[in-house]
Amino acid sequence: MSAPAAHAGAGEAPASGGVTVVVENVAKRYGAVVALRGVSFTVAEGEFLAIRGPSGAGKSTLLNLIGTLDRPDSGTISVGGKPVPSPREAVAYRRRLVGFVFQDHLLLPYLTAQSNVETPLLATGVERHERGRRSRELLAEVGLLDRVRHLPAELSAGERQRVAIARALANAPQLLLADEPTGALDSVAGDRVLGLLARTRDRHGMTLIIASHDPAVPARADRVVDLVDGLLG
Ligand SMILES: Nc1ncnc2c1ncn2[C@@H]1O[C@H](COP(=O)(O)OP(=O)(O)OP(=O)(O)O)[C@@H](O)[C@H]1O
Ligand SMILES: [Mg+2]
Repeated sequence: MSAPAAHAGAGEAPASGGVTVVVENVAKRYGAVVALRGVSFTVAEGEFLAIRGPSGAGKSTLLNLIGTLDRPDSGTISVGGKPVPSPREAVAYRRRLVGFVFQDHLLLPYLTAQSNVETPLLATGVERHERGRRSRELLAEVGLLDRVRHLPAELSAGERQRVAIARALANAPQLLLADEPTGALDSVAGDRVLGLLARTRDRHGMTLIIASHDPAVPARADRVVDLVDGLLG
């Protein structure tokens, strides 16, 4: 029996409605530190899962493995029925299937809000006029059409995070991974960002996984899993 093909083809047409994520017995250590001790769970197509746990529990490690920023020592992860590719082979997977939102927005400081949102569209070869149209549409969706020419330093922390969400959505990912997206925000701005992520999931039909210790996240999720010391509780 042959193994299912890994995500590879840049030309693959994405299906709508999100993708399933299956994590099986995943372990990861960094030298002497065991970050994940054999974690298994499944996320359904279009589901919003919150991963909760104290600092150091392994939440970021887990999201990074699903997003192929790093690879597990053992265990398997499949997304949409296919094993995730190794980080080196994952360019198409990261550009087309998965969107990332990090705790610190990681916007490029010398680019305007609009240009930041356009960056992933450049990578996938979308032509200039269409890039402009799509990026403005996304910035409108996150309520920032009047800030398109602002540099990150000219935006509030919540606005920067909303630009980062627009950027993560640029290539219409079927899986959105958000690592502490409200970590740098006060409760009002945080609530706005979470509401936006939840509505985006509803509107675009993607699978959404948020790792956070913000208690406001589980309140909005379909389901919560607790990660403690590298193990699911
Ligand atoms: N690149 C790395 N090198 C060495 N150790 C690491 C590395 N990344 C994470 N760790 C360790 O792995 C463990 C899990 O880290 P991780 O960042 O996944 O936790 P977390 O749950 O996201 O914590 P936080 O809530 O503080 O973001 C921690 O003990 C951390 O020190
Ligand atoms: Mg973390």
